[in-house]
Amino acid sequence: MSRLVVVSNRVPNPGSGQPQAGGLAVALTDALKRRGGLWFGWNGQLSQSAVTRPRVAHHEGIDYATLPLAKPDYDDFYLGYANAVIWPVFHFNLGAMDYQRRYGEAYRRVNALFADALAPLIEPDDILWVHDYHLMPLARELRERGIGNRIGFFLHIPFPDYDVLRAMPGHRQLLEDLCRFDLLGFQTRNDQHAFEESAGRAIGALVHAPGALRHRNHPFGTGVYPVGVAVDELARTAARTLTTNRVRRLLNGLGERDLMIGVDRLDYSKGLEQRFRAFEALLEDYPHRRGHTVLMQIASPSRSSISEYADLRQRLEGLAGHINGTYADLDWAPLHYLNRTFARGSIMGLYRAARVGLVTPLRDGMNLVAKEFVATQDPDNPGVLVLSELAGAAAELTDAIRVNPYDIDAIAAGVNQALAMPLPERRRRHEAMMTTLRENDIGAWEQRFLDDLGVARA
Ligand code: G6P
Repeated sequence: MSRLVVVSNRVPNPGSGQPQAGGLAVALTDALKRRGGLWFGWNGQLSQSAVTRPRVAHHEGIDYATLPLAKPDYDDFYLGYANAVIWPVFHFNLGAMDYQRRYGEAYRRVNALFADALAPLIEPDDILWVHDYHLMPLARELRERGIGNRIGFFLHIPFPDYDVLRAMPGHRQLLEDLCRFDLLGFQTRNDQHAFEESAGRAIGALVHAPGALRHRNHPFGTGVYPVGVAVDELARTAARTLTTNRVRRLLNGLGERDLMIGVDRLDYSKGLEQRFRAFEALLEDYPHRRGHTVLMQIASPSRSSISEYADLRQRLEGLAGHINGTYADLDWAPLHYLNRTFARGSIMGLYRAARVGLVTPLRDGMNLVAKEFVATQDPDNPGVLVLSELAGAAAELTDAIRVNPYDIDAIAAGVNQALAMPLPERRRRHEAMMTTLRENDIGAWEQRFLDDLGVARA
């Protein structure tokens, strides 16, 4: 079996037990644990000047080769082009795009630097799997350094429609670069279709059939691989952590009250303001819920030196204060807003303790919280998932209560329906979603992509 080399911008610190915020780190840790291999990328640290010799560490069957980013690269590549240009545009939010020419330069510079550092580590039989929007030029950079291995790419976030994409400076080059991979994986059929349409219209890539393309005489494939979760492991963790002191204390404090839970990175794509407003609408329009419902929203700070993120944080604090100020009673605060990161294990216990999981992003590639919430429920007495129809997960989780995340009254009504749902219906919906999650768990996701990547060049 060939060695798997995974490349991503975010690589968690091996063995640190650090809480991980973000679907990519979670999915890749689970996928790599199964098969072993090398994981290359940024170690999350900053350095004075650019470093090209990665530090290598071995942990639980995985070799980690990681680099720090020089401060100007962090500013202009990570905060700049990746997260102030690509991220908002790919989440259909042109208003949040902040383009500067030096951001585009830094994006190319860091991808070239990654290729310089990675190329010497690659052996002839390796299969390379590059992840996410930070690294779209990497196949081209590696090819220019003589790397002929199979290279696949998976996009964890949505791919925008062409009319949105073409507002982004540099989009033609990005499409050219993506066409240098052997296989491009997307979360949903929509994303795959949007890419094929864009590549055809912007740079004249030929789409022979959905999934089979050619550009500048290079044939390559596209496919749909919705990322999954480690279903049974999550269920076990949740059952175990439900009995830890921390979760017990929380449950004792709740008494008979219904817990609703939201867990997100603090990001404008997650629909947190609308979610808070919907909770307020629930308390206002369904008065029998007052005093009996608690929303716990965990929002882990993320990319906080980008002004869109800092501003959002302020607005959420204002809203949370307003809601508690308006509705709290001597013995009840409706909204628990926690602006920090928690260990994954505790969060799984909280999911299991909750009656309702609220996952209402305005746009999301997949959203693994939705899948984790389902996987962690007690099958005999499961909670209900209220899910945005604009999350990738909605394509699979058709038995969630699906809502338009911009429609505050619809979210409130969906939550009320979830809280009132009789046990037989809860069980039926949960069972149906578990079947879907099991069929396409994290192992199946990895296997399907790697099988297709093997075929793509064979
Ligand atoms: C999303 C992206 C990942 C990213 C994660 C956390 O899940 O798809 O690529 O790693 O968010 O964001 P951060 O900027 O902290 O890496």
